[in-house]
Amino acid sequence: MKPYIICHMLGSVDGRIKQDIWGLKNSSRYFEETAEKIPAGAWLVGRITAQEFSSKKQYPLEDDVDVPKEDFVAEKVSETFSVFIDPSGKCFWDSNMVSTEQVIVVLTEKVSGAYLNHLRSKNVSYIFGGKEELDLQVVVEKLYRLFNIKTLRIDGGGHVNGSFLKAGLIDEFSLVLAPVADGTIGSPTVFEVEEGYGARTATRFKLKSVETIYDDFLWVRYMVIKDKQ
Ligand SMILES: NC(=O)c1ccc[n+]([C@@H]2O[C@H](COP(=O)([O-])OP(=O)(O)OC[C@H]3O[C@@H](n4cnc5c(N)ncnc54)[C@H](OP(=O)(O)O)[C@@H]3O)[C@@H](O)[C@H]2O)c1
Repeated sequence: MKPYIICHMLGSVDGRIKQDIWGLKNSSRYFEETAEKIPAGAWLVGRITAQEFSSKKQYPLEDDVDVPKEDFVAEKVSETFSVFIDPSGKCFWDSNMVSTEQVIVVLTEKVSGAYLNHLRSKNVSYIFGGKEELDLQVVVEKLYRLFNIKTLRIDGGGHVNGSFLKAGLIDEFSLVLAPVADGTIGSPTVFEVEEGYGARTATRFKLKSVETIYDDFLWVRYMVIKDKQ
């Protein structure tokens, strides 16, 4: 069993997601206020976005120690979770909470025992999604089974969205379309999957709803069409 997965993003009309030059005042509200209307047992972000939430300190790691590469589920202290895809263990944590959500870190077996000790010292839950590379199907099944997460909201950035899209795991896409054209070549877009066309076909959507919000923004919700033709 896996959670129902909704990807939620704020994008420019050209699909870009970094808001540095958009000139929006209080820009987080456009993402957050819509996200709050999508009830979910957890939200999930990639490692680069995770650095906005993790510690600003660099914790010293002790000499490497032998800690079994097994999932660690801390005692549950909140109803909802924040999940961080950090395959090499680059983020440090001051506590096991981000706001009101309990932290879960998704790792590969590349991480050191010393890093696992850091997570355990903060009582941060972690799960393994593969030896060298993540198998996202395994990851979402573990989130369902170990944490009872039945609905998962994927909140970016573009690379993590792209990897869930490529794995065929997204059920619904929620886009807050900002009335701006960004134009920055190389800046991440809503879905960053791979260079070139390869053997892929685009993921197609069916419109679920569309709403005008904050005067000039659109909130568009799509269902993913699962049957490839
Ligand atoms: N507009 C919005 O709604 C919105 C929402 C969220 C974020 N953002 C912005 O987006 C930017 C970051 O986006 P991004 O695309 O550069 O980064 P990202 O998706 O946040 O993180 C990418 C990283 O996550 C890890 N990762 C993701 N999928 C993986 C997989 N399947 N297997 C292994 N590792 C995986 C990798 O970490 P390693 O490099 O450690 O291997 C990868 O480099 C930030 O500026 C943030 O503020 C915007």
